[in-house]
Amino acid sequence: MRGLHEKVFIVTGAGSGIGRASALRLAEEGAFVLAVDRDIDKATETVGLSQGATGKVQAFAQDLTENQAPQAILQAARDAFGELDGLVNNVGLGSPKSALDEPDEEHDKYMNINFRTVFRMSRDFIGFNMHRGGSIVSIASTFGLVGFPGAATYSAAKAAIVGLTRQLAAEYGEHGFRVNAVAPGLIMTPAHTLERQTKNKWFYDSYLNGTPLKVAGDADAIGAAVTFLSSADAGFITGQVLPVDGGWTITKYAFADDGRVRAR
Ligand SMILES: NC(=O)c1ccc[n+]([C@@H]2O[C@H](COP(=O)([O-])OP(=O)(O)OC[C@H]3O[C@@H](n4cnc5c(N)ncnc54)[C@H](O)[C@@H]3O)[C@@H](O)[C@H]2O)c1
Repeated sequence: MRGLHEKVFIVTGAGSGIGRASALRLAEEGAFVLAVDRDIDKATETVGLSQGATGKVQAFAQDLTENQAPQAILQAARDAFGELDGLVNNVGLGSPKSALDEPDEEHDKYMNINFRTVFRMSRDFIGFNMHRGGSIVSIASTFGLVGFPGAATYSAAKAAIVGLTRQLAAEYGEHGFRVNAVAPGLIMTPAHTLERQTKNKWFYDSYLNGTPLKVAGDADAIGAAVTFLSSADAGFITGQVLPVDGGWTITKYAFADDGRVRAR
Protein backbone atom coordinates (compact mmCIF):
# COMPACT_ATOMS: atom_id res chain seq x y z
CA MET A 1 0.00 0.00 0.00
CA ARG A 2 1.20 3.49 -0.76
CA GLY A 3 2.30 6.17 1.68
CA LEU A 4 3.10 4.16 4.81
CA HIS A 5 6.88 3.84 4.58
CA GLU A 6 8.48 5.48 7.66
CA LYS A 7 5.16 7.07 8.60
CA VAL A 8 4.48 7.21 12.34
CA PHE A 9 1.40 5.61 13.90
CA ILE A 10 -0.01 5.04 17.35
CA VAL A 11 -2.05 1.85 17.85
CA THR A 12 -3.89 1.48 21.16
CA GLY A 13 -4.50 -1.96 22.63
CA ALA A 14 -1.72 -3.32 20.40
CA GLY A 15 -0.86 -6.21 22.73
CA SER A 16 -3.56 -8.55 21.42
CA GLY A 17 -6.09 -9.33 18.71
CA ILE A 18 -7.10 -6.56 16.32
CA GLY A 19 -4.69 -3.96 17.74
CA ARG A 20 -1.74 -6.33 17.41
CA ALA A 21 -2.73 -7.33 13.86
CA SER A 22 -3.05 -3.64 12.90
CA ALA A 23 0.33 -2.75 14.37
CA LEU A 24 2.04 -5.67 12.61
CA ARG A 25 0.38 -4.98 9.28
CA LEU A 26 1.34 -1.29 9.40
CA ALA A 27 4.93 -2.28 10.23
CA GLU A 28 4.98 -4.76 7.34
CA GLU A 29 4.15 -1.81 5.09
CA GLY A 30 7.15 0.07 6.50
CA ALA A 31 5.47 2.22 9.17
CA PHE A 32 6.88 3.07 12.61
CA VAL A 33 4.34 2.09 15.26
CA LEU A 34 4.00 2.89 18.94
CA ALA A 35 2.24 -0.19 20.30
CA VAL A 36 0.33 1.03 23.36
CA ASP A 37 -1.17 -1.39 25.86
CA ARG A 38 -1.80 -1.40 29.59
CA ASP A 39 -0.15 -4.84 29.59
CA ILE A 40 3.49 -4.16 28.69
CA ASP A 41 4.32 -7.86 28.35
CA LYS A 42 1.74 -8.27 25.61
CA ALA A 43 2.88 -5.09 23.82
CA THR A 44 6.46 -6.37 24.00
CA GLU A 45 5.32 -9.67 22.48
CA THR A 46 3.91 -7.65 19.56
CA VAL A 47 7.33 -6.02 19.15
CA GLY A 48 8.89 -9.52 19.01
CA LEU A 49 6.42 -10.59 16.33
CA SER A 50 7.34 -7.55 14.22
CA GLN A 51 10.94 -8.71 13.70
CA GLY A 52 11.53 -8.97 9.98
CA ALA A 53 9.04 -6.22 9.10
CA THR A 54 10.29 -3.27 7.06
CA GLY A 55 9.03 -0.83 9.69
CA LYS A 56 9.49 -0.76 13.46
CA VAL A 57 7.30 -1.37 16.49
CA GLN A 58 8.03 0.01 19.95
CA ALA A 59 6.04 -0.90 23.06
CA PHE A 60 4.57 1.68 25.42
CA ALA A 61 2.75 0.89 28.67
CA GLN A 62 -0.31 3.01 29.31
CA ASP A 63 -3.85 2.48 30.55
CA LEU A 64 -6.04 4.49 28.16
CA THR A 65 -8.59 5.30 30.86
CA GLU A 66 -6.09 7.36 32.88
CA ASN A 67 -6.46 11.11 32.54
CA GLN A 68 -2.94 11.85 31.34
CA ALA A 69 -3.01 8.98 28.78
CA PRO A 70 -3.51 10.92 25.51
CA GLN A 71 -0.74 13.47 26.11
CA ALA A 72 1.65 10.81 27.48
CA ILE A 73 1.07 8.61 24.40
CA LEU A 74 1.39 11.43 21.85
CA GLN A 75 4.62 12.63 23.44
CA ALA A 76 6.04 9.10 23.62
CA ALA A 77 5.33 8.52 19.93
CA ARG A 78 6.98 11.77 18.93
CA ASP A 79 10.00 11.04 21.18
CA ALA A 80 10.34 7.57 19.66
CA PHE A 81 9.86 8.37 15.98
CA GLY A 82 9.36 12.11 15.30
CA GLU A 83 6.32 13.78 13.72
CA LEU A 84 3.09 11.77 13.84
CA ASP A 85 1.01 10.62 10.86
CA GLY A 86 -1.80 8.49 12.23
CA LEU A 87 -3.75 7.10 15.15
CA VAL A 88 -5.58 3.79 15.44
CA ASN A 89 -8.13 3.85 18.29
CA ASN A 90 -8.55 0.15 19.01
CA VAL A 91 -8.96 -0.24 22.78
CA GLY A 92 -12.45 -1.41 23.71
CA LEU A 93 -14.17 -4.01 25.83
CA GLY A 94 -17.41 -5.91 25.25
CA SER A 95 -20.11 -5.88 27.89
CA PRO A 96 -22.90 -8.40 27.28
CA LYS A 97 -25.51 -6.78 29.52
CA SER A 98 -29.00 -5.67 28.57
CA ALA A 99 -29.98 -2.16 29.65
CA LEU A 100 -32.20 -3.42 32.50
CA ASP A 101 -29.28 -5.38 33.99
CA GLU A 102 -26.70 -2.62 33.80
CA PRO A 103 -26.10 -0.54 36.94
CA ASP A 104 -24.75 3.03 36.68
CA GLU A 105 -21.17 2.10 37.61
CA GLU A 106 -20.94 -0.49 34.83
CA HIS A 107 -22.53 1.86 32.31
CA ASP A 108 -19.92 4.51 33.19
CA LYS A 109 -17.09 1.97 33.03
CA TYR A 110 -18.00 0.70 29.55
CA MET A 111 -18.76 4.16 28.14
CA ASN A 112 -15.37 5.23 29.43
CA ILE A 113 -13.32 2.41 27.94
CA ASN A 114 -15.24 2.15 24.66
CA PHE A 115 -15.96 5.80 23.88
CA ARG A 116 -14.40 8.37 26.22
CA THR A 117 -10.92 7.02 25.49
CA VAL A 118 -11.56 7.32 21.73
CA PHE A 119 -12.92 10.86 22.06
CA ARG A 120 -9.99 12.05 24.20
CA MET A 121 -7.29 10.38 22.06
CA SER A 122 -8.81 11.74 18.83
CA ARG A 123 -9.26 15.25 20.22
CA ASP A 124 -5.72 15.43 21.52
CA PHE A 125 -4.24 13.88 18.35
CA ILE A 126 -5.94 16.54 16.23
CA GLY A 127 -4.74 19.30 18.56
CA PHE A 128 -1.20 17.89 18.60
CA ASN A 129 -1.06 17.51 14.81
CA MET A 130 -2.98 20.62 13.70
CA HIS A 131 0.14 21.80 11.84
CA ARG A 132 0.20 18.76 9.51
CA GLY A 133 -3.05 16.77 9.65
CA GLY A 134 -3.12 12.96 9.76
CA SER A 135 -5.29 9.86 9.71
CA ILE A 136 -7.52 8.49 12.46
CA VAL A 137 -9.04 5.02 12.20
CA SER A 138 -11.23 3.90 15.10
CA ILE A 139 -12.49 0.39 15.74
CA ALA A 140 -16.27 0.53 16.07
CA SER A 141 -18.44 -2.60 15.78
CA THR A 142 -21.33 -3.99 13.79
CA PHE A 143 -23.22 -3.51 17.08
CA GLY A 144 -22.78 0.24 16.59
CA LEU A 145 -24.68 -0.08 13.31
CA VAL A 146 -27.40 -2.68 13.99
CA GLY A 147 -29.56 -3.44 17.04
CA PHE A 148 -28.89 -6.81 18.71
CA PRO A 149 -30.14 -8.14 22.08
CA GLY A 150 -27.69 -7.59 24.96
CA ALA A 151 -24.62 -5.30 24.99
CA ALA A 152 -26.64 -2.10 25.50
CA THR A 153 -23.85 0.23 26.63
CA TYR A 154 -21.29 -1.35 24.28
CA SER A 155 -23.61 -0.80 21.27
CA ALA A 156 -24.31 2.80 22.30
CA ALA A 157 -20.60 3.52 22.77
CA LYS A 158 -19.71 2.01 19.38
CA ALA A 159 -22.51 4.03 17.72
CA ALA A 160 -21.00 7.11 19.38
CA ILE A 161 -17.69 6.28 17.66
CA VAL A 162 -19.56 6.26 14.34
CA GLY A 163 -21.01 9.72 15.07
CA LEU A 164 -17.68 11.08 16.22
CA THR A 165 -15.95 9.72 13.10
CA ARG A 166 -18.33 11.57 10.79
CA GLN A 167 -18.28 14.76 12.87
CA LEU A 168 -14.48 14.99 13.13
CA ALA A 169 -14.12 14.21 9.41
CA ALA A 170 -16.55 17.03 8.59
CA GLU A 171 -14.91 19.57 10.85
CA TYR A 172 -11.21 18.90 10.44
CA GLY A 173 -10.95 17.71 6.84
CA GLU A 174 -9.81 21.15 5.74
CA HIS A 175 -6.85 20.83 8.13
CA GLY A 176 -5.71 17.61 6.46
CA PHE A 177 -7.31 15.06 8.78
CA ARG A 178 -9.02 11.96 7.41
CA VAL A 179 -11.17 10.20 10.00
CA ASN A 180 -12.63 6.73 9.36
CA ALA A 181 -13.79 3.70 11.30
CA VAL A 182 -13.88 -0.05 10.82
CA ALA A 183 -16.86 -2.01 12.13
CA PRO A 184 -15.70 -5.60 12.72
CA GLY A 185 -18.14 -8.48 12.79
CA LEU A 186 -17.30 -11.65 14.72
CA ILE A 187 -13.49 -11.78 14.85
CA MET A 188 -11.82 -14.68 16.66
CA THR A 189 -9.41 -12.83 18.94
CA PRO A 190 -8.35 -13.87 22.47
CA ALA A 191 -11.34 -11.83 23.74
CA HIS A 192 -13.53 -14.76 22.60
CA THR A 193 -12.44 -17.23 25.25
CA LEU A 194 -13.71 -20.80 25.11
CA GLU A 195 -15.63 -20.10 28.33
CA ARG A 196 -17.37 -17.13 26.69
CA GLN A 197 -18.20 -19.19 23.59
CA THR A 198 -19.69 -21.97 25.69
CA LYS A 199 -21.66 -19.63 27.94
CA ASN A 200 -23.02 -17.58 25.04
CA LYS A 201 -23.53 -20.37 22.51
CA TRP A 202 -26.78 -18.77 21.38
CA PHE A 203 -24.93 -15.58 20.39
CA TYR A 204 -22.26 -17.39 18.34
CA ASP A 205 -24.78 -19.65 16.58
CA SER A 206 -27.04 -16.73 15.79
CA TYR A 207 -24.20 -14.51 14.55
CA LEU A 208 -22.76 -17.18 12.26
CA ASN A 209 -26.20 -18.14 10.95
CA GLY A 210 -26.72 -14.51 9.96
CA THR A 211 -23.31 -14.17 8.30
CA PRO A 212 -23.46 -14.85 4.54
CA LEU A 213 -19.84 -16.10 4.47
CA LYS A 214 -20.71 -18.50 7.38
CA VAL A 215 -17.35 -18.05 9.11
CA ALA A 216 -15.87 -15.75 11.74
CA GLY A 217 -13.06 -13.44 10.67
CA ASP A 218 -9.51 -13.28 11.96
CA ALA A 219 -7.74 -10.24 13.38
CA ASP A 220 -5.70 -9.77 10.22
CA ALA A 221 -8.88 -9.10 8.23
CA ILE A 222 -9.35 -6.01 10.39
CA GLY A 223 -5.62 -5.14 10.41
CA ALA A 224 -5.71 -5.09 6.60
CA ALA A 225 -8.73 -2.74 6.53
CA VAL A 226 -7.14 -0.45 9.13
CA THR A 227 -3.90 -0.35 7.15
CA PHE A 228 -5.69 0.45 3.90
CA LEU A 229 -7.71 3.28 5.49
CA SER A 230 -4.49 4.65 7.07
CA SER A 231 -2.62 4.61 3.74
CA ALA A 232 -2.34 7.09 0.89
CA ASP A 233 -4.40 4.65 -1.19
CA ALA A 234 -7.38 5.81 0.90
CA GLY A 235 -6.39 9.46 0.52
CA PHE A 236 -9.85 10.52 -0.73
CA ILE A 237 -11.80 8.47 1.83
CA THR A 238 -12.99 10.19 4.99
CA GLY A 239 -15.94 10.03 7.37
CA GLN A 240 -16.63 6.40 6.39
CA VAL A 241 -17.42 3.36 8.49
CA LEU A 242 -16.33 0.14 6.81
CA PRO A 243 -18.03 -3.03 8.05
CA VAL A 244 -15.65 -6.02 7.85
CA ASP A 245 -18.11 -8.67 8.91
CA GLY A 246 -18.57 -11.43 6.32
CA GLY A 247 -21.72 -9.60 5.22
CA TRP A 248 -23.55 -9.71 8.58
CA THR A 249 -24.84 -6.13 8.36
CA ILE A 250 -26.21 -6.39 4.82
CA THR A 251 -28.78 -9.09 5.39
CA LYS A 252 -31.43 -10.27 7.82
CA TYR A 253 -32.79 -13.77 7.95
CA ALA A 254 -33.46 -16.45 10.50
CA PHE A 255 -33.69 -20.22 10.53
CA ALA A 256 -36.09 -22.31 12.56
CA ASP A 257 -34.63 -25.17 14.63
CA ASP A 258 -35.14 -27.57 11.72
CA GLY A 259 -32.92 -25.37 9.54
CA ARG A 260 -35.80 -24.11 7.38
CA VAL A 261 -36.57 -20.46 6.85
CA ARG A 262 -39.61 -19.55 8.95
CA ALA A 263 -42.43 -17.53 7.34
CA ARG A 264 -44.86 -15.59 9.49
N1 LIG B 1 -13.18 -9.47 18.43
C1 LIG B 1 -14.35 -9.12 17.94
O1 LIG B 1 -15.19 -9.96 17.57
C2 LIG B 1 -14.71 -7.66 17.82
C3 LIG B 1 -15.86 -7.31 17.11
C4 LIG B 1 -16.21 -5.96 16.99
C5 LIG B 1 -15.40 -5.00 17.56
N2 LIG B 1 -14.29 -5.36 18.26
C6 LIG B 1 -13.49 -4.28 18.86
O2 LIG B 1 -12.13 -4.44 18.50
C7 LIG B 1 -11.29 -3.91 19.51
C8 LIG B 1 -10.23 -4.94 19.91
O3 LIG B 1 -10.85 -6.15 20.29
P1 LIG B 1 -10.05 -7.52 20.42
O4 LIG B 1 -11.07 -8.59 20.23
O5 LIG B 1 -8.84 -7.49 19.57
O6 LIG B 1 -9.67 -7.46 21.98
P2 LIG B 1 -8.49 -8.18 22.82
O7 LIG B 1 -9.07 -8.37 24.19
O8 LIG B 1 -7.91 -9.34 22.09
O9 LIG B 1 -7.36 -7.03 22.87
C9 LIG B 1 -7.57 -5.83 23.56
C10 LIG B 1 -6.21 -5.26 23.97
O10 LIG B 1 -6.44 -3.98 24.57
C11 LIG B 1 -5.73 -3.91 25.79
N3 LIG B 1 -6.49 -3.00 26.69
C12 LIG B 1 -7.71 -3.24 27.23
N4 LIG B 1 -8.06 -2.21 28.00
C13 LIG B 1 -7.06 -1.30 27.95
C14 LIG B 1 -6.84 -0.03 28.53
N5 LIG B 1 -7.74 0.52 29.35
N6 LIG B 1 -5.69 0.63 28.26
C15 LIG B 1 -4.75 0.07 27.43
N7 LIG B 1 -4.90 -1.14 26.86
C16 LIG B 1 -6.05 -1.81 27.11
C17 LIG B 1 -5.68 -5.32 26.33
O11 LIG B 1 -4.59 -5.49 27.24
C18 LIG B 1 -5.49 -6.11 25.03
O12 LIG B 1 -4.12 -6.26 24.70
C19 LIG B 1 -12.23 -3.48 20.64
O13 LIG B 1 -12.53 -2.12 20.52
C20 LIG B 1 -13.48 -4.30 20.38
O14 LIG B 1 -14.64 -3.71 20.89
C21 LIG B 1 -13.92 -6.66 18.40
